[in-house]
Amino acid sequence: SSRPRALSGIQPTAGSFHLGNYLGAIRQYVALQETHDAFYMVVDLHAITVPQDPAELRANTRLAAAQLLAAGLDPERCTLFVQSHVPEHAQLGWVMNCLTGFGEASRMTQFKDKSARQGADRATVGLFTYPILQVADILLYQADAVPVGEDQRQHVELTRDLAERFNGRFGRTFTVPAPYIVKEVAKIYDLQDPTIKMSKSASTPKGLINLLDEPKTTAKKVKSAVTDTDTVIRFDTEEKPGVSNLLTIYSTLTGTAIADLEQKYEGKGYGALKTDLAEVMVDFVTPFRTRTQEYLDDTETLDSILAKGAEKARAVAAETLADTYDKLGF
Ligand code: ADP
Ligand code: NA
Repeated sequence: SSRPRALSGIQPTAGSFHLGNYLGAIRQYVALQETHDAFYMVVDLHAITVPQDPAELRANTRLAAAQLLAAGLDPERCTLFVQSHVPEHAQLGWVMNCLTGFGEASRMTQFKDKSARQGADRATVGLFTYPILQVADILLYQADAVPVGEDQRQHVELTRDLAERFNGRFGRTFTVPAPYIVKEVAKIYDLQDPTIKMSKSASTPKGLINLLDEPKTTAKKVKSAVTDTDTVIRFDTEEKPGVSNLLTIYSTLTGTAIADLEQKYEGKGYGALKTDLAEVMVDFVTPFRTRTQEYLDDTETLDSILAKGAEKARAVAAETLADTYDKLGF
């Protein structure tokens, strides 16, 4: 295909994806199916950087794939697979480990955050090197565009550095990718603490919108979102981070410009905004839950989609790895 390539991965997590994952990443995965030769994977190798129960991991991997399909990924228009089904990820990961400086890896802020949360001496070497596995994930597919949220920008920068380093030393081998970050939704904030990003691991329970929560729970969380002591509905991330976050979510889910929302709520209080956004959210998550459950109820179809995806992915990955090994003198 002559289309540019897109590649991204998302970790299987217990429960469900959250609204930050959807708006910051998954929504862009769906859009890029139309313009790119797109590869998306559930990154179970990344998941084991922290302890996992095997049966739960297997279930969560299917759950992640089911949610991606429910969100709009179409196996006819993209390649959806599970990372561990394509052994080339671990193989190229090792090569990239040997190309990365220890100090360079030590500068990754995601590792600092995640290991701090784990407790410094419980963090694994795998957690330390996971950005480098991510480099391999991207380079294997010769990706041009990597749709991610802002928190992943540094890892795409590392990918660019390593691609250029390898190409410089061994000759042109890898496409140098660029992050595909949609500024407006690059960082969705916690609904209770709009100074921190919405995140599975760091969010407050009421500030985290899980896509598979009961719709009435979702509505409740939206209605109890933290705003400020003012009443004016205005997009201002400095002075009004809570209200601005709600406007971003509202605008993205409905395709309404933020300026139009400001106008619509002129002279109305925060209650009106939250009530309407709660309804928008419920209208979004209700069919999402149903579709996810339909995929989970038919694991035969789901597994067959993932098997076909792995086969397509592997054809590309194997070619890149063979070229890499050849260049290295293997
Ligand atoms: P988490 O940060 O909750 O552990 P992941 O690291 O699995 O989630 O993130 C999966 C994708 O979702 C990544 O592309 C990441 O950049 C994006 N993402 C995660 N949280 C947010 C957020 N709050 N706002 C925007 N994008 C996000
Ligand atoms: Na993240």
